[in-house]
Amino acid sequence: MIVPGSSSQALASALATELNKPLAAVTYDQFPDGETLAAVPEFDGDRAIIVATTDTNDTWVELLQLQDAVIEAGATEVITVIPYMGYTRQDRAFKSGHPVSARAMARAISPTTDRVILINPHERSVADFFDGHVTICDAASHLAESLPSGLSEPLFIAPDAGAIELATAVRDEYGTGSTDYFEKTRHSGTDVDMNITDTNVSTRDVVVVDDIIATGVTMSTAVGHLNDGGAARVYIGCIHPLLARGARTRLERAGIERVIGTDTIEREVSAVSVAPTVAAAIEAVDIETR
Ligand code: R5P
Repeated sequence: MIVPGSSSQALASALATELNKPLAAVTYDQFPDGETLAAVPEFDGDRAIIVATTDTNDTWVELLQLQDAVIEAGATEVITVIPYMGYTRQDRAFKSGHPVSARAMARAISPTTDRVILINPHERSVADFFDGHVTICDAASHLAESLPSGLSEPLFIAPDAGAIELATAVRDEYGTGSTDYFEKTRHSGTDVDMNITDTNVSTRDVVVVDDIIATGVTMSTAVGHLNDGGAARVYIGCIHPLLARGARTRLERAGIERVIGTDTIEREVSAVSVAPTVAAAIEAVDIETR
């Protein structure tokens, strides 16, 4: 059975359709003291495929509860799909005395799952924090599906060197265009510097591609440079449209044509589903273990 976390109900439903598997009824409750209770009252199956984005502390707890609940209900195999794994940007102890939060989260959920499937985690090395087998899926190319045809001299640009592979994947799927990236220096959560690219963007359509849009500061800084350079239209695409802290307004004010995200985080801009990518990963696991 496919078991949805509260933040991944549409994606879990799309995955159930892709795999032709039943979708479990899940209840999500909260006690007066703030404690959450996610339960699967009618779970019936040997294998549970839990699909749960962990973008908040509550959804992390829900995931732990769902893992425990399906085992309690008789599941003998648990696959945990984490479409967007929160805390992955805390993948190092940045200062003395700081935790490696991504590792702490991975350790918490490892004992109650047989496998984990992640979609474009911020760093692939986060897979090493889990005890068991981890599959990493790359959904970037699907962002091209939502771009209009006939972009003018398209440029696919990453806001930093780390995202160039994402921009290249979108360009390859789109079928035409060049790629580039900005040099970015982050000073704080809301302060980034970006060097202007030497590439001429005048009258060109530009697609900026990143893994996450959180505050939108990175993207809006990039969009500002591109508009200053005379770009015709600027589209922005990301795998994980977190869109926290007024990001949507920040992006609109920067002058974008459109935001395109996937449904790893369910937002109004989630035009692209990663369900086919996750289904293919699960089918590959089945073939591997047969
Ligand atoms: C950083 O390396 C990431 O790839 C994203 O660029 C970053 O997380 C975006 O954050 P924000 O939207 O807050 O600038």
